[in-house]
Amino acid sequence: MSDHHDRASHRFGGPWTETKLTILRKYLRAYTTALKNQSFTTGYIDAFAGTGYRSQAANDGPQLALPDLAGDQEEALLKGSVVYALETQPRFDRYVFIEQDAARCAALDALKAQHPDLAADIKVCSGEANEEIRSLCAKNWRDRRAVLFLDPYGMQVEWQTIKAIAGTKAIDLWLLFPLGIGVNRLLTRSGEIPEAWRHRLDVMFGTADWIDTFYRVESQPDLFNPAATTLVKARVDVIASYFVERLKAVFPAVAPNPRILRNSSGNPMYLFCFAASHPRALGIASDILRKID
Ligand SMILES: C[S@@+](CC[C@H](N)C(=O)[O-])C[C@H]1O[C@@H](n2cnc3c(N)ncnc32)[C@H](O)[C@@H]1O
Repeated sequence: MSDHHDRASHRFGGPWTETKLTILRKYLRAYTTALKNQSFTTGYIDAFAGTGYRSQAANDGPQLALPDLAGDQEEALLKGSVVYALETQPRFDRYVFIEQDAARCAALDALKAQHPDLAADIKVCSGEANEEIRSLCAKNWRDRRAVLFLDPYGMQVEWQTIKAIAGTKAIDLWLLFPLGIGVNRLLTRSGEIPEAWRHRLDVMFGTADWIDTFYRVESQPDLFNPAATTLVKARVDVIASYFVERLKAVFPAVAPNPRILRNSSGNPMYLFCFAASHPRALGIASDILRKID
């Protein structure tokens, strides 16, 4: 891998990545178009920003961002969420990119040179996503509106952060919820869940009552034991609905049709959720989710 390749892109995701970014891209365009003639300052916040580019086996992905660079390499450079946001027209007024990896922050900073007209309005924050978002949410949002994209690898997003986002009443949230890749794996078949895993689930859901939804005891009497019971673990669709309900507890407008993102074997990996304070935003997001292939 070339030096440029190491710094400017990083390898992540799977076949679902394209779907996720297409949904986001469509929403960003619809959003800035809808707010074009309003007096709000508009922002795009990417809290797990990466580098702006991603790499993937060259024959996997349709859209080469820098085909001349990728030509003789085994991997192609594809656009990531940050670059799609910078390319959105009409443009946002401000861009905030949060990333905890220092080398990736440097790659994000380097994007300013590729977008000189936007450079003064791009802020790269080197830090932990939950902390940075909560501090942004504590600001005065009266005259500001933003789209926030939360694209973690796993279970990094804490419920307190989601609550703080909802509390602004000014941020439209797209969140990659780790349905199969995180939660379903921590829910053991036996129901015996190590304390550290329980704690992670509590922090992510903001409550400990998930256990009552995700496990139920069924009676299975037989000839020798009429009182026999068995523990049944919830299917992923129950986990998905539970999380949508949690979002509804803090956001007035939550997409009822989040997108399940599957790997090439058809297993659900993530749930791509949308939540906002405004019904109009929900209408746009739901429409995009409904129409995506
Ligand atoms: C899946 S990648 C993001 C990809 C990006 N959205 C894109 O489309 O190009 C997740 C990124 O989050 C960063 N990250 C992981 N945990 C983090 C945290 N707690 N706070 C901030 N960044 C984090 C990783 O370094 C990685 O670059």
